[in-house]
Amino acid sequence: MNMIPIKDNVFYLGSKDINRKLFDQLVPLPQGTSYNSYLVKGSEKVALIDTMYPKMIDELVEKLDNDGIKSIDYIVCNHAEQDHSGALPVLVEKYPAAKIVTNEKCKDNIKNMLHVADDKFILINDKEELSLGDKTLQFIFAPWVHWPDTMFTYLKEDNMLFTCDFLGAHYTRYELFADCSKGLEEAAKRYYAEIMMPFRNFAKKYTALVKEINPDFVLPSHGPIYDNPQFILDLYDEWTSDKVLNKVVIPYVSMYDSTKILVDELANKLKDFGVDVKVFDLIHCDEGELSMELVDAAGVVLGSSMVLAGPHPAALTTAYLVNALRPKLKFYSIIGSFGWGGNLSGPIENMFTIVKPEKLEYVIVKGKPNDEDFSKIDRLAVDIAEKIKQVV
Ligand code: FEO
Repeated sequence: MNMIPIKDNVFYLGSKDINRKLFDQLVPLPQGTSYNSYLVKGSEKVALIDTMYPKMIDELVEKLDNDGIKSIDYIVCNHAEQDHSGALPVLVEKYPAAKIVTNEKCKDNIKNMLHVADDKFILINDKEELSLGDKTLQFIFAPWVHWPDTMFTYLKEDNMLFTCDFLGAHYTRYELFADCSKGLEEAAKRYYAEIMMPFRNFAKKYTALVKEINPDFVLPSHGPIYDNPQFILDLYDEWTSDKVLNKVVIPYVSMYDSTKILVDELANKLKDFGVDVKVFDLIHCDEGELSMELVDAAGVVLGSSMVLAGPHPAALTTAYLVNALRPKLKFYSIIGSFGWGGNLSGPIENMFTIVKPEKLEYVIVKGKPNDEDFSKIDRLAVDIAEKIKQVV
């Protein structure tokens, strides 16, 4: 395997990890992911931009060796998470003259996580420049997409912006450049939902910043390179906007079908009102799909059976995830069924510590739903349809 030239002594050293099934041990990866390093050869110095997931180190080293890279002067670290920094200990040993170029927060994180020696670092400030001879790197701090240490590296002469996690995608069906397909859009949305949505306002700010820089190439550290950055920037504009769609997400878990009967009734009524309804049976749920639907949903209705005098753990986990992902939901409700008693709504409600959507009437019924229960569900559907008219 060799490095792939992108443009004028800038090379791609990505590795595809198509067998990886989960990211963060949480979100399924239908086609795995990729980790991208880039090599920039200036007339005087050579810089590697970001490194690699530790399990793929051999591929990175093989590419560098095959292309005869005998020395590296700088290893730029845009972000300390190990899928990009994990190869640092191996690389600083292989290239003893190399210095890790990064910001103070990133240095602290690398030292804590990888135990790299203090004298291996060069600290830079926001907007500082580093000359490689005929090429210049500029470092642009972009904290909170998605860690406090994240930054971008801008290659001035070639108008290329290396954004690390930002604008990335768990997408492996590419050679080098983005195909701007529906498949890429879905992969980028799945990625955004889990990684960037909790930091939506920062993502919005940096989308505007990237537009202002107006690079010819956006080079993330997951997924393809954008030689037409407008594609991904337009998507980020949409996802990070305050706008929600005429859509309700209904994740549910049902032990003896009573909760499912309520969910089906609500979903059918909402569909009659023209609402886009996304129902997820939590026992067979892809958290990535659910997260993607939360990106632009107007509301969520969580359905749960009562178990052990409280909500089913699957419903509680989902409530936790919804709160952690911080979607721009405008309203929520809880529906469900119980056999003999307990507190179904309280523990779910208590999960919403960050997101505070408006609470609509709950419908919690005893046993199998009866006519009165159906009437309550129908009223909830009316309330939701009215609420959507106000917020969309
Ligand atoms: Fe791709 Fe935050 O690491």
